[in-house]
Amino acid sequence: MAKISLTGIKPTGVPHLGNYLGSIQPALALAQNYLSVYFIADWHALTTIKDGKELRPLIHRLAATWLACGLDPEKTLFFQQSRVPELGELNWILACFTAKGVLNRAHGYKAMVQKNRDETRPAQVPPFNDLESNDEVIQSHLDAGVNIGFYTYPVLMAADILLFGSDVVPVGQDQKQHVEIARDIAESVNHRLGKIFNVPEPLIQESVKTVPGLDGRKMSKSYDNVIPLFAPASEIRKAVMRIVTDSKRPEDPKDPETCNVFNLFKHFAEPGRVDERRRQYSAGGVGYGDMKEELASALEARFSGARRVYDELLKDPAGLDRILEEGAVRARQLAGDRMEKLRKKLGLR
Ligand code: TRP
Repeated sequence: MAKISLTGIKPTGVPHLGNYLGSIQPALALAQNYLSVYFIADWHALTTIKDGKELRPLIHRLAATWLACGLDPEKTLFFQQSRVPELGELNWILACFTAKGVLNRAHGYKAMVQKNRDETRPAQVPPFNDLESNDEVIQSHLDAGVNIGFYTYPVLMAADILLFGSDVVPVGQDQKQHVEIARDIAESVNHRLGKIFNVPEPLIQESVKTVPGLDGRKMSKSYDNVIPLFAPASEIRKAVMRIVTDSKRPEDPKDPETCNVFNLFKHFAEPGRVDERRRQYSAGGVGYGDMKEELASALEARFSGARRVYDELLKDPAGLDRILEEGAVRARQLAGDRMEKLRKKLGLR
């Protein structure tokens, strides 16, 4: 049987070029060698987005993005997480196999705790009183703003990964720990109940790190330095013009590898043209303004066709829902046997 790759994508922002290079494109390429599963992790998005008017369009935009980038819902499995109730069921069961201490050490939670620690001066912590111990006062302070969904995020992610018997999980470096937690949970269930779950491998996509945003830091919504994937050409060009460069003149020799414009250009232009431009950087004779124009044209050439498909798909949100539901029906079939075996082993049936 074909090996399974699985990727979840959170609908928390409008997809940008960093998402495309770092996750969409490599994940879609896996469909050639794996039975590939792609899903919209809308339950995960709820940990941060509580407004349906905000979330709904993000789900549709994300679905349209993947389809426009070439995802074939017939040859792969493509669905919306919340349409597969077994994932919620498995989430609970796995939570009962997960030590709380493991979640204390998850990067996302630790970052929140660190932020709370840094932002508070001791004077702001309420004083010790008889009703609450000092430890409790400090703990609830460190946990400020952390909902339980966010805290147990890695457990739901383990459910996503384990329900379908994934062999590999393509993720960026930032998600590696989550896949490791899923492996540990799988092993602990298998150890107690016999083999139920495949123990998956993370497939780390290194290129994520090297996609610079407008300011040269990693392209990321949280840095507000992104170039959107499917905005109107004029908007993309405007973003490109804002890419930060140094103040070298056109005739000055430059190092292409430290130039934010070149480091985007090299992913989207023809390889021959990239080599030519690389030589010109070193020799001197190319200006940043020119390079930006050429990058904007390369992006237009690369994505204008997909953008038309994207715009068409978004005109029919009900059609997108239908695709996501049909995928969910197939996903539930794929999950059925494993879930039933687990329920029996646990004595629930
Ligand atoms: N946590 C992932 C992210 O933020 C999204 C995700 C949810 C995921 N479930 C998954 C990724 C399962 C891989 C496998 O990018």
